Amino acid sequence: MRSQTHSLRRNAVRWFGSLLIASLIVPNVFGAGATIRFAADSSGTGGAFIKKACDAWAQKTGNKVEIISRPTDASATLQQYQQYWAAKSPDVDAYQIDVIWQGIAAPHAVDLKKYFKDDEVKAFFPRIVANNTVNGKLVSVPWFTDAGVLYYRTDLLEKYGYKEPPKTWEELAAMAKKIQEGERKAGKPDFQGFVFEGKASESVTCNAIEWVYSYGGGVIIEPDKKVTINNPHAIKALQTAKSWVGTISPAGVVTYGEEEARNVWQAGNAAFMRNWPYAYALGQDPKSPIAGKFDVTVLPKGGENGKNSACLGGWNLMVSNYSKAQDAAADLAKYLDSSDSQKQRAIELSLLPTLPALYSDSDVLAKNAWFKNMLDVLKNAIARPSTVTGADYNQISTAFFQSVNKVLSGGESAENAVKDVEKVGKRLMR
Ligand code: GLC
Repeated sequence: MRSQTHSLRRNAVRWFGSLLIASLIVPNVFGAGATIRFAADSSGTGGAFIKKACDAWAQKTGNKVEIISRPTDASATLQQYQQYWAAKSPDVDAYQIDVIWQGIAAPHAVDLKKYFKDDEVKAFFPRIVANNTVNGKLVSVPWFTDAGVLYYRTDLLEKYGYKEPPKTWEELAAMAKKIQEGERKAGKPDFQGFVFEGKASESVTCNAIEWVYSYGGGVIIEPDKKVTINNPHAIKALQTAKSWVGTISPAGVVTYGEEEARNVWQAGNAAFMRNWPYAYALGQDPKSPIAGKFDVTVLPKGGENGKNSACLGGWNLMVSNYSKAQDAAADLAKYLDSSDSQKQRAIELSLLPTLPALYSDSDVLAKNAWFKNMLDVLKNAIARPSTVTGADYNQISTAFFQSVNKVLSGGESAENAVKDVEKVGKRLMR
């Protein structure tokens, strides 16, 4: 009897021991088997990069990842997410969320301070961490950042006798006109001077806030809650942009998002483009018709007395409050957000890391020399009024992008547009 108990106990000890050893060899043996549904980019090289990284994490941990495809348009993505959030849906565990949605997402997010140590959080740009912290909750961790930049064709600037990219929007318009006329005469009837994102969505909010700010017209609603959009500088900025449509920019630019603008640009059919950093790696791909023929610089100023302005963008990782696998989802977020992964992504996709240390990394700079100027651009980048409007941000942005799009399409005057936006802003700030 006694020896039987002994052997039982010995077996139990052995069994427990091997489990312990197995858990050391195969990490996460206890928590393995979760399927993380991750709402993220799925298309193009960006989607392929995310898929590969998720697969690597799955392999390492014994979990699975299913990517829930988000629309490429930011505003459409928010609509999709809001359906999950309204339903408190456990069907999505982790989300890739925009820098402007922190107030909207906050009630649906797990506080990531639970999973990211202080020094891990401190390694990110403090400005983004502050942006992503709502009432003390770390709603999401910074994944990649973004800033609007000007792409220009170095070969064409040289061909038409320009030594430098334009410093003001007025210079840009003059250069774009001359190059467009010349290229059309030379047998390229579809050639455009300047492409940008004019679509009635978050895309044009970013473009238009850059124009307005560059002319000294503020940021719609200032951090002190003053609604400033109805001012002569903002009106001048919108009128200037309107004057491009159908002259140096195609009439169809009012329906362009980022990818539509990039397609025209990358086919070699535009002299200038406003876009985000992701378009760099794609344009420099050896198969791209414009590889080696373009460069990136800061967006122009609004006139001689204007300011350079870049809209601050970027995407972040959030774990859903309604997820049944929060620990595993947070572990995936941490894996995707590691310095190694961010570095690889900067090299392959020219996406801006959220770890300042990577801006002096020699491998990153070897591929993207222009990143060395981006720390400064990011420091001065203008935030959309999402902190001050919080959960109501989409209301002010929608009012703004609809009105701006109408101005560009010729359906409303700039004077009336800013009045309409002001009304919405004042209602929200009451
Ligand atoms: C980019 C930016 C994002 C912005 C969006 C608008 O993805 O990173 O912040 O909202 O463009 O189209």
